[in-house]
Amino acid sequence: MNASHGESRVVALVPAAGMGVRLGENRPKAFVPVGGSPMLALAVAGLIASGSVDEVVVMVPAELVDETRALLPVSDTPVHVVPGGAERTDSVRAGLDAAPDATFVLVHDAARALTPPALIARVVAELRAGAQAVIPALPVTDTIKSVDVTGAVTGTPDRAELRAIQTPQGFEARLLRAAYATGTQATDDAGLVELLGATVRTVPGDALAFKITTPLDLVLANTLVAQGSSNGDREAVTTR
Ligand code: C5P
Repeated sequence: MNASHGESRVVALVPAAGMGVRLGENRPKAFVPVGGSPMLALAVAGLIASGSVDEVVVMVPAELVDETRALLPVSDTPVHVVPGGAERTDSVRAGLDAAPDATFVLVHDAARALTPPALIARVVAELRAGAQAVIPALPVTDTIKSVDVTGAVTGTPDRAELRAIQTPQGFEARLLRAAYATGTQATDDAGLVELLGATVRTVPGDALAFKITTPLDLVLANTLVAQGSSNGDREAVTTR
């Protein structure tokens, strides 16, 4: 499917260079299988299935660049693999450098392997409608508190105003490049853009876009794939 609209180009950057120690597996998290396919391959297949992405750039540990190429879905959409960096921010910066002609950039964690393609399309549609920065958001169900270094509670923000943020996060490419040029580290790309004073809009997230972080998340992800309830319109992942 051709995702192009005129001259504008949507490039999805997939940071997959983290070691994922919280998952307790003996390989980088993005390479851990879910339902038999590496998380990274599922995440890329979801981006392609959205029909909203012209190109994908995957950032992995330098020593895994070659083997990653063999793991990724076969598709008409170009998928490039480049070395990531020590911190997530460094990996995203490497992806930006590999996408010089992007008009819009999506940053999508490989660990959100079951993200429905419809959510990805929603983020891109909002960018094309004129938003500079778009992030998927879900209401939080737990009460969230801030604590100090001793664990003592310092505050209880109003839950109604809080959202849990997912990926893909979408940006005008020039805005995200400007944010990264500041050299600040962050776990969330939108946070860097907020520091520049830009408006970040939210679209409804999806529970299936959860980040596979802990062994419990992995059990959930495998169960969802086994039940066939997570595939969205993502086709079976075919590798080279
Ligand atoms: O550690 P965390 O779960 O927040 O990582 C989110 C995503 O960022 C993961 O897909 C991980 O592979 C990626 N990452 C990266 N480069 C790093 C650290 C994390 O691409 N140095």
